[in-house]
Parts: sequence; structure tokens; C-alpha cells
Amino acid sequence: MFSESRYRVHVCLGPSCVPNGSKETLAAFEAEIARLQLNGDVELMGTSCRSRCEIGPSVNVYPGPVLYGHVDDLAAELICLQHLARDEVVAELVVETPHRWTRGRR
Ligand code: FES
Repeated sequence: MFSESRYRVHVCLGPSCVPNGSKETLAAFEAEIARLQLNGDVELMGTSCRSRCEIGPSVNVYPGPVLYGHVDDLAAELICLQHLARDEVVAELVVETPHRWTRGRR
């Protein structure tokens, strides 16, 4: 079943990303989504490991997915302001998707 939200944001809460601050990243997304009044447009959730441990905290934004790496609280705010509010991918935070990324995975 597909989400009704315009965007889905998945913040990794796996064993490599949490020590790198992904719980704080998730909290920053929650706060900024609320501040920008995007709650109806964005579904936010923590996920298990997405096998992107080397670039944690890792964040996937759907549709796409657009894979962001090393997302700290400031990067989360920028993704909210630019990607989620203005539909502009934050190119400087995008990680090239490695070949092991499964096509068609949603
Ligand atoms: S623990 Fe986050 S990608 Fe593996």
C-alpha cells in the first residue's frame, strides 16, 4: 500500500548510524517538519540498517529514493527547507548510489 504523503523520509536507526547521531537526526527532522508545517506532506520514520553504514547517518527520501549521507541535524534542516518544502534535491548531500542498490526498490 502506498503512502498518501507527498514525501516519505526514512532515517536509519541501525547499529552503525545511531552512534553517528541518527537519533538526533530523526529528532531534527521531526522538529523542522513541524516548524515548517509539513506534517501532512511528509511521513517520517526510523528504519533498520539499509546497508549504507559507511555514510551514516543515512537518510532516504521517497519518491526516488534520494539517498543522503552523513545527515546531521543541520543537514536535516537543510533537506527539510530545500527538498521537502521546495522540491529541490540538496545535491551537495546526495550520495552516489552504489551498484548494489536494488533497482525498483521502494
Ligand atoms: S546502520 Fe545505518 S545504514 Fe547500516
